[in-house]
Amino acid sequence: MTANTIEINRRRHPIQPGSPQWLFGYGSLIYKVDFPYLERRRAWIRGWARRFWQGSHDHRGTPESPGRVVTLVEEPGVLCRGLAYRVSPEVFHHLDVREKNGYLRLPTAMHFDDGGEAEGLIYIAAPDNAAFLGAAPAREMAAQIARASGPSGANADYLLRLAEALRQLGDDDPHVFELERLVLSA
Ligand code: BEZ
Repeated sequence: MTANTIEINRRRHPIQPGSPQWLFGYGSLIYKVDFPYLERRRAWIRGWARRFWQGSHDHRGTPESPGRVVTLVEEPGVLCRGLAYRVSPEVFHHLDVREKNGYLRLPTAMHFDDGGEAEGLIYIAAPDNAAFLGAAPAREMAAQIARASGPSGANADYLLRLAEALRQLGDDDPHVFELERLVLSA
C-alpha cells in the first residue's frame, strides 16, 4: 500500500526558491541528515506527541510486511523535542520524495532550547493517510518493529537509532523508550 504525498505537498505548499526556512525534525530527521543545512538547533514544539503509528511500506518494511515509524498526533499540552534545521527551500524537494509515504508538510511554531522561536515546517502523517496504522498494544507494536525490514534497513534499527538520538538530546520519551526496551528484550 502506498500513500504517495509528493504531488499533494507540491500542490498545497509549492516550494518557492528563495529564503531559507526552518524545518523541525522529530524522527529520522534527527539522526539521518542526508541534506545540507545552514544551522541546527535543539528545539521543541507544543501540542504534538511522537508515536510509532505510521506504517512504512517503502523504507522500514514492505507492502506485505509494513514496519512502524513515527508520526505526530495532536495532544494538547504535550511537548515534542527534536532538532530544528535552517535549510534552503530545495531541501524540501528531496524530503518530499524521501518521506512520500503519507507525510504532509505543515507550518508550525518551534521554540529553541536556547531561547527564541520561529515559524517553520514539520512533516506529519495524519490519521486519514492510507498508510496510517494507529495505536496498538506496545507489545504488538514492538513485535511488528522487531520483524519488519525494508529497503532502508531493519525497522528495529530505526527505533534503536531514534531512541539513542533522543537520549543524547536529553529527551525522555516514554513511548519510544518502552518500545526500545521491548524490542531489545524480544
Ligand atoms: C522527522 O524526523 O521530522 C520526520 C519524520 C517522519 C517523516 C518526515 C520527517
